[in-house]
Amino acid sequence: MGAPKTTVWAIEPHTQAKHEILDRYLQAWTAILSLGRFPAIAYVDGFAGPGVYEKGQIGSPIIALNAALEQQRQHPAMANTKLIFLFIEQKTDRAERLQENVDELQLPSNFRVKVVGGTSFEQGFASTCSTSTAAANSRYLRRLRSSIRLAGPACRSAL
Ligand SMILES: C[S@@+](CC[C@H](N)C(=O)[O-])C[C@H]1O[C@@H](n2cnc3c(N)ncnc32)[C@H](O)[C@@H]1O
Repeated sequence: MGAPKTTVWAIEPHTQAKHEILDRYLQAWTAILSLGRFPAIAYVDGFAGPGVYEKGQIGSPIIALNAALEQQRQHPAMANTKLIFLFIEQKTDRAERLQENVDELQLPSNFRVKVVGGTSFEQGFASTCSTSTAAANSRYLRRLRSSIRLAGPACRSAL
């Protein structure tokens, strides 16, 4: 099947398999990361889609939000970490549908969701991530940089 042209389309079996893996992965890692020392963690879906498929199956951005919601219900201390979700979707109609699907969720105040539509992942990531994510983690990064000072130039430049 070629790339779909409509706003939503029928889900493929390989996409369903991917969603199952994604859900299990995020159910495990969201809590582990959030309960660590990070003041904020960011999740970026650069090819987000509309968040829903033809027969109502949910798409990857909504799977990620649901996984984080479920984990926060089980681990209330996660509320101390800001969870930033950046969803980038090139097609404007799909980004709008995704925004509608996100708006239907009741999200706790530590959740920050940004849907960036009408731009490529490459541009959307560069323009948005450098401000929100990096700013949120800048204090942590400063601490990390100073504690890693002895690790050598290659490691420092990676930060
Ligand atoms: C396979 S679909 C999305 C599937 C979705 N991640 C999920 O699992 O439910 C890929 C999406 O990426 C979008 N896309 C393609 N190239 C892109 C790019 N360079 N930047 C952002 N979005 C892009 C397409 O419009 C399409 O909606």
